[in-house]
Amino acid sequence: MNPKDQKVLVSTFEKEVYEGLTAFPKYLSSKYFYDEVGDKIFQQIMALPEYYLTRAEYEIFKTHKTEIIQNFDARKEGFDLIELGAGDGKKTKVLLEELQHKAYNFTYMPIDISQNAVNGLVNTLNVEMPEVKVKGQIGEYFEVLDRLKHLSNRKKVVMVLGSNIGNLLHPRAIQFLKKLCSAMHTDDLLFMGFDQKKHPQKVLDAYNDKSGVTAAFNKNVLARINKELQGNFDLDKFMHWETYDPENGTAKSYLVSKEKQTVDIDSLSLQVHFEAWESVHTEISQKYDDDIVKWLAEASGLKIVQSFADKNNDYKDYILTKA
Ligand code: AVJ
Repeated sequence: MNPKDQKVLVSTFEKEVYEGLTAFPKYLSSKYFYDEVGDKIFQQIMALPEYYLTRAEYEIFKTHKTEIIQNFDARKEGFDLIELGAGDGKKTKVLLEELQHKAYNFTYMPIDISQNAVNGLVNTLNVEMPEVKVKGQIGEYFEVLDRLKHLSNRKKVVMVLGSNIGNLLHPRAIQFLKKLCSAMHTDDLLFMGFDQKKHPQKVLDAYNDKSGVTAAFNKNVLARINKELQGNFDLDKFMHWETYDPENGTAKSYLVSKEKQTVDIDSLSLQVHFEAWESVHTEISQKYDDDIVKWLAEASGLKIVQSFADKNNDYKDYILTKA
């Protein structure tokens, strides 16, 4: 029997690890960075001096919150503020406070692939901002988008912050935006963060910090395979490697095998061979400029209404509607 056929019930994680590690060149999806450990490492990343993205978006919210939420304004029946990939919601809280302060009628719906993140966020919001109506949901972007239409029958403001869209190459970003667009009505809004092209060294540093936190984040996918799929990756035999191409604006993360080795993944009945210096591609973090965002929007049936930048122009949030 083919080892592939031995198991009937396989999770998406199992399937995708199998596919990625038997492909050439090898790859694993960055969505698997995020478990309880990965969420904590990502929190550390957001606090790194090199990782400017979170602070830039926080600055935008602090500076422009009034103008931003003016766009969210809704009729009497209020609106649903849906956040895809909500994480710890630290930045969002700035907007939530302002919305509450201005007595907007809204429900906040954070959605994340991490059950852990959603539960944590809902719990802290219930304590910190008890007047805000919160409905958390667990799910993956594309899957959640299908639910989106049925999720709400009021005006929708959909937020995708943190340049989370940057994990998708342009063709998939367009697919994602088209799906979002088709779930939107005429006055619904999309509020999205896009990290901007900048000095290439600044990008590289953000994804290759001195303290090795990003390396640990990248390797967490291997740690998860060890834990959840009975793998025996030796994390020290892999190194984190980052590249940035200023022409296409794509930052890429890899795990590079420092030696020839074989790894067993028992629950997949799989042996994975690595040549010395063979790579596993794990993440893309796309960088943008106004022209690219405009092009993505137009290709997806959307248009840019307004944008907000931080002082350095490192990062921008765009408000989009159906074209
Ligand atoms: C959460 C996907 C926006 O790509 O900047 C941070 C994740 N990876 N450091 C990004 C990440 C390595 C982050 N996103």
